[in-house]
Amino acid sequence: MSEDLTIIKGTKAEQYRALIPQIDALIGGEPDLIANLANIVAALREQFGWLWVGFYLVKQDELVLAPFQGPVACTRIRKGRGVCGTAWQEMKALIVPDVSAFPGHIACSSLSRSEIVMPLIREGKLLGVLDADSSTLSAFDTVDQEYLSQILSLIRLSKNV
Ligand code: SME
Repeated sequence: MSEDLTIIKGTKAEQYRALIPQIDALIGGEPDLIANLANIVAALREQFGWLWVGFYLVKQDELVLAPFQGPVACTRIRKGRGVCGTAWQEMKALIVPDVSAFPGHIACSSLSRSEIVMPLIREGKLLGVLDADSSTLSAFDTVDQEYLSQILSLIRLSKNV
């Protein structure tokens, strides 16, 4: 397939609905996890223009920075720390409308105002998280949660990941 992404305008849901089949086509034939995570974050940033979007993957007892788009970020996050570590501990999505009101928020960029963290879970185990940051307050809601969850479900993981 062509690697060009078609970027559309419209409601958030319309944007996700146009993007999801394109992401599916991009990653569907590719078994390499890192390549696929890289294309997912590139596609999301191109469509939505967020400040930062990327993955952290669980390695031993920490989340370690994986493919991302945006400013440089902290590389390791412990369970229970920050929004990402809390999403890991609680095994659930977290929507943070105002990061300054989240106790223990890890400020990788001082420009970040709101954030969503989605858990990547397979067979009851958290393998990593998808984290998106915006420079505007309340940028993320349950629409993002619903569609980002669909995007995460497109990721096929081999047994040794
Ligand atoms: N804000 C996150 C840290 C990761 S950066 O935003 C990229 C947190 O509190 O876990």
